[in-house]
Amino acid sequence: MDNFVFQNPVKLLFGKGQVSHLATELKKYGNKVLVVYGGGSIKNNGVYDDVMEVLKEGGMTIHEFGGVEPNPRLSTAIAAAELCKRAEIDVIVAVGGGSVIDCTKLIACAAKYDGNPWDFVVRKAVPQEALPFGTVLTISATSSEMNAGSVITNEETQEKYGWGTPLNYPKFSILDPSYTMSVPRDQTVNGIVDTMSHIFEEYFNESSNTPFQDEMCESALRTIIRTGAKVVDHPDDYELRATMMLAGVWGLNGFLRMGYAGDWGTHDIEHAVSAVYDIPHAGGLAILFPEWMKYTMHLNPKRYAQLAVNAFGVDPTGKSDEETALEGIRKLEEFWASIGAPQRLADYDIDDSKIDLMAEKAAVNGPLGNFAKLSQQDVVQILTNSL
Ligand code: NZQ
Ligand code: ZN
Repeated sequence: MDNFVFQNPVKLLFGKGQVSHLATELKKYGNKVLVVYGGGSIKNNGVYDDVMEVLKEGGMTIHEFGGVEPNPRLSTAIAAAELCKRAEIDVIVAVGGGSVIDCTKLIACAAKYDGNPWDFVVRKAVPQEALPFGTVLTISATSSEMNAGSVITNEETQEKYGWGTPLNYPKFSILDPSYTMSVPRDQTVNGIVDTMSHIFEEYFNESSNTPFQDEMCESALRTIIRTGAKVVDHPDDYELRATMMLAGVWGLNGFLRMGYAGDWGTHDIEHAVSAVYDIPHAGGLAILFPEWMKYTMHLNPKRYAQLAVNAFGVDPTGKSDEETALEGIRKLEEFWASIGAPQRLADYDIDDSKIDLMAEKAAVNGPLGNFAKLSQQDVVQILTNSL
């Protein structure tokens, strides 16, 4: 196990009706609030009305910025940051999913910066100051509500990268599972795939002697598989939604990655695919992860076999590690197919014409991944295997 320092300052308010605390939490930082949201789902499912009512009752001065797109764009963050400066906003609340929250993280830093905020994303500059912000989560997937990561697309250059700074932690996050009941089936599936993928990225790490972390990851995966299979057919079940919401938070809030960094190569490849084709993040992961596993399995078949047995219930009797591992990957593919996740790049009409471009973008900083160090040529092969 590697040395590590762990600190996660995000306050969680979990459960039905927790939005009632929203104004109290925000007013710790000022009275002028900017409400940031996406393409309108919160207006259809009543979340917008709940939020506005609490803010008005709290006597807050409210500004709004809607229209943050899935795979949030740099230009959108810049426009919202200009509004923050103009209106002298004190505090922001992101109401939505990973895209709205990730965008808010850039808005918060950009509101205190005179240069181009893309500088932060490509590490040309480090933010020194940011507006405080909280979140009201409406979809379980990324854990952006409890981490310091943010993934932004520069639509002009077709680049999509993750970046992070301690200033990116939300001050608080309100997690009401009933707010996720309106998430459509395909996005619910995306959330399941993304959460499982975060755990895979952590499980395939460069460290050794991690039995405690391994079992946490394996049991989390078993719970997600069991619950995920049901929630897609029972979207209004509060308890199922609550389990998935907690799982989504834990997937990437740091608790399952103590003692190692994890791999993250598949995420880098997916971000390149999304940068070029603007497909949903987890749709890409559902296609790429099984192929990444098959491609890298030879590095440590024992570990893949352990995952197959402990997360996917494969019986290893009379099988080699390789056979057990392959059966585990097959079970993963079957599970994702059974809930309706995409399986091939062709499902998004992606052919081989831009594979070199995507591989180049994925490997922009040299070899990618920690457990499996992939070259640009490796990425070409994984993408080709995913067509
Ligand atoms: O825009 P609206 O109208 O709100 O609709 C959204 C969007 O179309 C809809 N939705 C959200 N809550 C809903 C709902 N529809 C009905 N009812 C609700 N309650 O769902 C769609 C997807 O939303 P989005 O926020 O894009 O999904 P997600 O949370 O999966 O976020 C994806 C983004 O996060 C990044 C991804 O790359 C992608 O850009 N990631 C962020 C990470 C992080 N910050 O740590 C890590 C992840 O690995 C990921 O890369
Ligand atoms: Zn992800």
